[in-house]
Amino acid sequence: MSGYTAHFKVWRGDVGGGGLEDFKVEVNDGEVVLDIIHRLQATQTPDLAVRWNCKAGKCGSCSAEINGRPRLMCMTRMSVFDRDETITVTPLRAFPVVRDLVTDVGFNYTKAREVPSFVPPEGVGPGEYRMMQEDVDRSQEFRKCIECFLCQDTCHVVRDHEENKPAFAGPRFLMRVAELDMHPLDAAAEGGLDRKKTAQDEHGLGYCNITKCCTEVCPEGIKITDNALIPLKERAVDRKYDPLVWLGSKIGRRAR
Ligand code: SF4
Ligand code: SF4
Ligand code: FES
Repeated sequence: MSGYTAHFKVWRGDVGGGGLEDFKVEVNDGEVVLDIIHRLQATQTPDLAVRWNCKAGKCGSCSAEINGRPRLMCMTRMSVFDRDETITVTPLRAFPVVRDLVTDVGFNYTKAREVPSFVPPEGVGPGEYRMMQEDVDRSQEFRKCIECFLCQDTCHVVRDHEENKPAFAGPRFLMRVAELDMHPLDAAAEGGLDRKKTAQDEHGLGYCNITKCCTEVCPEGIKITDNALIPLKERAVDRKYDPLVWLGSKIGRRAR
């Protein structure tokens, strides 16, 4: 295999508008889409704006849409495309453009702040936490998240519906609620915080109709829908319809 010339269309513009620009660019063996974007910067478009950091699929910065699919540019090998295929690179559609391929992902930081953090159990010191291995494994799967926000970008609830954003946390942060709600040592309920109720009432769990699109684009392979969103929905429904939970809430006892 040897180098060849590829045809790229790259979105250029800013909040005021923009469009696709055509480029012919050299591609060498083993390169990824981010290499090509860097070559464009080096040879043809020095002012092309792009966000990246690790080039190893770990920082979550280089998210974009490649041929319409949300992907990490640094983890998308050029070899997955036909040599005569036109490759289109556009910014994440669910978030406002800053310039070229850079979007303002501040929505996600707002949603992150809305999820109350882990509440340590009383009387158990650091190093004394004991959990079943399966509980550790569950958390560890969710903790692989690199916050690339590809799942947030692809979710149809907000992708073309700006009006849903205030009421919907998105898959990444519903997963965070699920992780904490299923954490055996989280003491939020002792302080009166019902994470299942907040999932429904404040984070918009009901908007999710388990299409699994978020899971399909996750570069970490996290089973967001099967392992976080569906279990959270089941737990929230149990809470609502379990007569003992209902009675407990009426007589002021803690409902879990
Ligand atoms: S499964 Fe739910 S959160 Fe994931 S993309 Fe579909 S609607 Fe959005
Ligand atoms: S859950 Fe996956 S797709 Fe979503 S932000 Fe985390 S790593 Fe990215
Ligand atoms: S540059 Fe870090 S994930 Fe792509």
